[in-house]
Amino acid sequence: MEKFVINGGKPLSGSVRISGAKNAAVAILPAVLLADGPCVIENLPQILDVSTLLSSLSALGADVKIINKTTARIDPAHADSFIVTKEMAQGMRASSYFLGALLGRCKRARVAPPGGCDFGVRPIDQHIKGFEALGTRVTIENGMVDARAASLSGASIYLDVVSVGATMNIMLAAVKAKGLTVIENAAREPHIVDLANFLNSMGANIMGAGTGVIKIRGVEHLHGTQYSIIPDQIEAGTYMVAAAATGGDVTVENVTPKHLESIIAKLIETGAQIEEFDEAVRVRMSSRPKRCNVKTMPHPGFPTDMQPQIATLLSVAEGTSIVTEGVWDNRFRYVEQLTLMGASIQVDGKSAIITGVEKLKPAPVRAVDLRAGAAMIIAGLMAKGETVVEEISHIDRGYELLTEKLSALGADIKRVNDYGTPQAKLA
Ligand code: EPU
Repeated sequence: MEKFVINGGKPLSGSVRISGAKNAAVAILPAVLLADGPCVIENLPQILDVSTLLSSLSALGADVKIINKTTARIDPAHADSFIVTKEMAQGMRASSYFLGALLGRCKRARVAPPGGCDFGVRPIDQHIKGFEALGTRVTIENGMVDARAASLSGASIYLDVVSVGATMNIMLAAVKAKGLTVIENAAREPHIVDLANFLNSMGANIMGAGTGVIKIRGVEHLHGTQYSIIPDQIEAGTYMVAAAATGGDVTVENVTPKHLESIIAKLIETGAQIEEFDEAVRVRMSSRPKRCNVKTMPHPGFPTDMQPQIATLLSVAEGTSIVTEGVWDNRFRYVEQLTLMGASIQVDGKSAIITGVEKLKPAPVRAVDLRAGAAMIIAGLMAKGETVVEEISHIDRGYELLTEKLSALGADIKRVNDYGTPQAKLA
């Protein structure tokens, strides 16, 4: 078991380059199965979820070649299997995208139930509602989600909740269905637009991605393509908050500032100075953060995937802040860890009431999920002294070369194994 050892209390400074977006990559990779020819995907983040998906594509029969660290060529021509086992899915949430992609490819899919971070119940009823509306029969057999359709026909689908996963999965299943599919109350996240752009670059006809109504006119074939994934909004936001939390001065490069608007707005409320450039954002903080309230919401609201990180910054703000979770039932499991470091936080249902303390203290803590892990790293960078973060495999699922990027910003962070031996980087 590896862990991060952080010697905190130093302001971050310099520049950091943001990788491709995890939550776009994890939908685009399964979507390659819809193509008739090879696809070259660029700007893939070097994270565990991407390696898991590339291995799953290989196991399905696709020919996967790694061109360089961030580019893969995938030829799905011989992907003859429609089964994604529990071992292949490895507890990933994104394995559910194989349902939509395989349905679109061969009208048949059998996929292990999706896992992912534990935020309470994570249903897929809206995905299933969409598949059924398109003409699919979905059953659970031997613990696997089994979906089969004689043919797929366009339909009008209203989502009862704004769901990223259901919006993406319905797009995947509908893109080669007969006729027009309309998704109403669709999610509007940047990765939804990226998936639509990717599919359109293969010859799909998708309109309205990024708005609440997406229209998909089915086409018979999708050809291979070359496509570069957008920068990761949440990785960028995490470094921006880390810069503010350590009283630093960091330029976050290779970003789309428009995707960061809600994060920028909240950081400004806390007293950070922000400069926006075409593809970069500079964050400076020279005083103790000011209190502010944050409510997470689907895009363009403040992203739930930034909630633990901003709460960590607010834990040392002057005054009391209220952070309300508007997407997930239970996304405050990290609070217990943060209180071990001296934070004063009361969770009341979907809100956390944070009374700012002057400083966090170093402590041994756990990454209870991916973004909770990012929050523990930020807390460790803020607290003067040695913080050890355990269970870091969650963090490896979503952050590329974290120790390298933070070290380049002046942080003292090491990845060590159980014997205390430093590990240069994630293989
Ligand atoms: N929901 C339903 N039924 C469904 C689907 C969702 O009730 O069929 C509910 C969920 O329980 C939740 C809400 O709708 O309360 C939103 O869930 P959504 O489907 O949007 O989430 P997801 O697709 O499972 C993705 C990201 C998450 C991110 C959420 C919200 C991926 C692989 N995961 O999950 O990212 O929190 O959207 O933006 O794209 C992360 O990266 O750390 C992460 C957890």
